[in-house]
Amino acid sequence: MKMIEVEITARWNRDLDSNLGYEVFKPVNQGLVKICRGMISRNGPSHDWSHVVEVAQAGMEIAKRLKLDTLPFLLAALCHDLFSDTDRQEHHMLAGAWVRENLGAFESKSLVEVVARMCEQHRASYRGEYTGIMEEAFASADRGLVGIDRDSRMYERAVKYALERNNCGVVRASEIAAQHIREKFGKGGYAKWPVLYVELFGDELEAMQERIASRPYASHVMDVLENAGLITRKELPQDDDGCYVKRKPAKVIPFKKEI
Ligand SMILES: [Fe+2]
Ligand SMILES: [Fe+2]
Repeated sequence: MKMIEVEITARWNRDLDSNLGYEVFKPVNQGLVKICRGMISRNGPSHDWSHVVEVAQAGMEIAKRLKLDTLPFLLAALCHDLFSDTDRQEHHMLAGAWVRENLGAFESKSLVEVVARMCEQHRASYRGEYTGIMEEAFASADRGLVGIDRDSRMYERAVKYALERNNCGVVRASEIAAQHIREKFGKGGYAKWPVLYVELFGDELEAMQERIASRPYASHVMDVLENAGLITRKELPQDDDGCYVKRKPAKVIPFKKEI
């Protein structure tokens, strides 16, 4: 077996890019964007700013397909995970309460109630009936869009999450991520998708499951990360006795907690 060394590239911490999300959130009150981005910066990598931006982009796409008003999707994207690392179990309800209390100071009061409900019903674990199409469409947006161009983001989040939860390096985190993705998003996986999501993206979901089945190992996960420019891999050189020579320890840059 070859020994490899993994290095993290500068692109790994893309949340540090101050322009990330600037375009998609242009129609929103910028004071609100600033407050939410500050609160989100305390979250771990599964619910970081790039997740919020992706949910906003997915929301825009779904809203356009269904001919729905796009602004509530941007607002719900900003607010839905504000408390995801404060109280994981209740973060959706805390977000709804925060929206009812604060959103009216930044945006039209007529949007407050629907955005609050979109936040409250966004989770995969939500078991009630959706109170309307906006709520179901936003729960769909939170799952993210699927497609070959989106795979790397799915793997990236899983690896970052594994790194955060386990005291390990990228190789081990890639093994954990590969298993997690097979179990959650592979064929027969436990991930739940809103009916509306399956109606909109059923073909893409099936294709994604095929791709997951065709590359189930940590090495495939690292291929995806490397192709996305997030890591580089080098084979460790061997000395005259055939022992591997470690050049320097692989470095993991800690996640940024403040803007
Ligand atoms: Fe959430
Ligand atoms: Fe989310």
